[in-house]
Amino acid sequence: MNIQSASPSITTMIRMDHTHVLAAFHRYHADSPWWRKRAIVELACTALEIHAQLEEEVFYPALANAMPGDDTLAKSKPEHDKMREEIGKLRAMGPEDAAYDARFMQLMRGVIHHVADEETTLLPTAERALASQLAQLGHRMTKRRLQLLAQKRPATIAANTVGTFPIASLAVLTVGAFALVHCLRPPSSRRGRRYA
Ligand SMILES: [Fe+2]
Ligand SMILES: [Fe+2]
Repeated sequence: MNIQSASPSITTMIRMDHTHVLAAFHRYHADSPWWRKRAIVELACTALEIHAQLEEEVFYPALANAMPGDDTLAKSKPEHDKMREEIGKLRAMGPEDAAYDARFMQLMRGVIHHVADEETTLLPTAERALASQLAQLGHRMTKRRLQLLAQKRPATIAANTVGTFPIASLAVLTVGAFALVHCLRPPSSRRGRRYA
């Protein structure tokens, strides 16, 4: 199997993750019922944790090799750590808490800023500096995502999907699975299709 022609590029997968997390965020409203708020928050937090770990294990090291000393890259891991801290505080609260909405908004404000830096700086840089490796890196990210999904409280993920926003939820958590299925299809059935 030719991995480079079969896998979505790592930058495509990262953009898809960002899109799905922001879509989940846009479904959160101050006047939503508590159970819906909690489901959205838990799904967004789990997706962010997986995404951050994948970037740190696969994407950032590859970029650091190609672009040592890059300022935006240097602050990316500390921003992930700050995000994890915010997630911890949010999980320690309940949606009935008066500060729950504000805490989630604070988390997402940081995420939006971080995503903007990645999409306007790191991803274009990667597409220039790592052009020949993007598909191979995407393949590695997919395999690692499936391992992390298997570890991340699948019952919680399923519970939060039911009755809330099933399409967005599944999209957040199964991007890698779709990619892997694509990789495993025979080359003849993929002819004529390309990913960015
Ligand atoms: Fe990131
Ligand atoms: Fe990201």
